[in-house]
Amino acid sequence: VTAFAERADRYDEGWLGRWHHDVATRSAAIAATAQPAAGRVLDVGCGTGYLLGELATRLPDATELIGVDAAPPMVATARPRTTDPRVRYSVALAESLPFRDNSFDLVVSTVSFDHWSDQPAGLAECRRVLRVGAHLVLTDLISSWLWPTTLTTRRRARTVGRARALLDAAHLHPTHWQPIPPFLRAVTAQAVE
Ligand SMILES: C[S@@+](CC[C@H](N)C(=O)[O-])C[C@H]1O[C@@H](n2cnc3c(N)ncnc32)[C@H](O)[C@@H]1O
Repeated sequence: VTAFAERADRYDEGWLGRWHHDVATRSAAIAATAQPAAGRVLDVGCGTGYLLGELATRLPDATELIGVDAAPPMVATARPRTTDPRVRYSVALAESLPFRDNSFDLVVSTVSFDHWSDQPAGLAECRRVLRVGAHLVLTDLISSWLWPTTLTTRRRARTVGRARALLDAAHLHPTHWQPIPPFLRAVTAQAVE
């Protein structure tokens, strides 16, 4: 989080910035298909807000689009980039979301999950704030090519099997796995009882 805080003002620049935008655009399309009439939308680990801007365009029925990030400079960079009154940002951890139970129709997160210090707790929080039947769209490092990295990073999902186990434990039922080569997947998961 400290590393992201230090480069918040340059985050969208260069090839890496373009790659993040491409991942966010693809994820927004998947999320808008999964929950086209979403009213309240949450982006966890929102960075500079590019994904929420894409979703604001694709979800005309959305009444509130909220981005949270652990790094205050990311939130400070995101805030002035929108003029849409439905969009707002605040500093918060995935593992401790400051929202009521069952209060969102869609939760999204792109390339943030792998950085969460407690992935099971973060997924439990995503599930808690989603209403039953609503969707989480989670895009991150999930690929069989990453299996060797699980030998040293035991607390990261990294593979479909491990991600599925974490999602199931959080009562999030995966319905669709979209590969984003070479190492990412966007998983759509429905909140179940
Ligand atoms: C690679 S950036 C991705 C930003 C944005 N989602 C995107 O797709 O460009 C990862 C972001 O996750 C945030 N982050 C890391 N751990 C977090 C946590 N536990 N809770 C909330 N945000 C977190 C970082 O501060 C950073 O802004």
